[in-house]
Amino acid sequence: MATWSAPGKVFLFGEHAVVYGKPGLAMAIQHRVSVTVRRKRRPGRVKSPYINECLGAMGVRATVYVRSQLPSSSGLGSSAAVTVATLSAINEEFGKGLTREDVARQAFEIEKKVQRGRASATDTYVSSFGGVVLIEGAEKKRLPPMNLPLVVGNSRVSHNTSQMVEMVARERERSPAIVNPILDAIGGVTREALLQLHDLRTLGILMNTNHALLDALGVGHPALTRLVLAARSAGAFGAKITGAGGGGCMIALSPNRAKGRVIGAMRSCDAQAFITTLDTEGARRETNG
Ligand code: PMV
Repeated sequence: MATWSAPGKVFLFGEHAVVYGKPGLAMAIQHRVSVTVRRKRRPGRVKSPYINECLGAMGVRATVYVRSQLPSSSGLGSSAAVTVATLSAINEEFGKGLTREDVARQAFEIEKKVQRGRASATDTYVSSFGGVVLIEGAEKKRLPPMNLPLVVGNSRVSHNTSQMVEMVARERERSPAIVNPILDAIGGVTREALLQLHDLRTLGILMNTNHALLDALGVGHPALTRLVLAARSAGAFGAKITGAGGGGCMIALSPNRAKGRVIGAMRSCDAQAFITTLDTEGARRETNG
């Protein structure tokens, strides 16, 4: 029996603009998915398509147990975390000898297959390696660890990443003179944030700017705007949509003394809210699974 866990992720800056080659910053969070794989197969258990694909790709049969701290379909990378943790646990249980790089690559292929072509290599990379990750084109670079106290708010409004990405592409075709400068400005915000990673107050202001630009792109939602405004009024340095938008989650960068108030403000808007921070480990073996 082998148990591995893998973290979820948030986009700190640059979602949507990364699709067009602009820089983006994503971060692994401490909320995780934990997966136990047992060689002996119990027949008749229903599994997620991600887990079935992991078993198929590794050529094994096994019983798989999943425990998750991440809400699914909310833009926190829960499917990537399930896939990375499952592959890592199969890797150990069956002695397959895959490296962390192999797991990240395989997990991306599985996400692409299950999601019929549209998957983000960011999610599987960040979940495998942890840390704050700068994405620029096909390049991904881990930055030195930093203290980023976040409150995540899940609007509970379901959203669909592919639809949001397609919508931005359509708008860009229809109105390039408007959409391209917005994408450029998002890239500019991310570049500025890279210079200000030590200064939470400035990062908060940049998050607010990034949120306004995402709204201008058309990926906002009234429920997300309510949460963002509530978090700011409760004392957050700044707040923004995280991920594809149209629903799903937002994040607030919050001073420690205000975290309780920020959580309370989000919950009173009917959101699921939790405090999290940077995970630096990525996929890890659990000893007491
Ligand atoms: O999967 P989500 O909801 O965390 O967001 C995807 C981020 C996008 O930039 C919109 C798409 C992508 O592949 O990077």
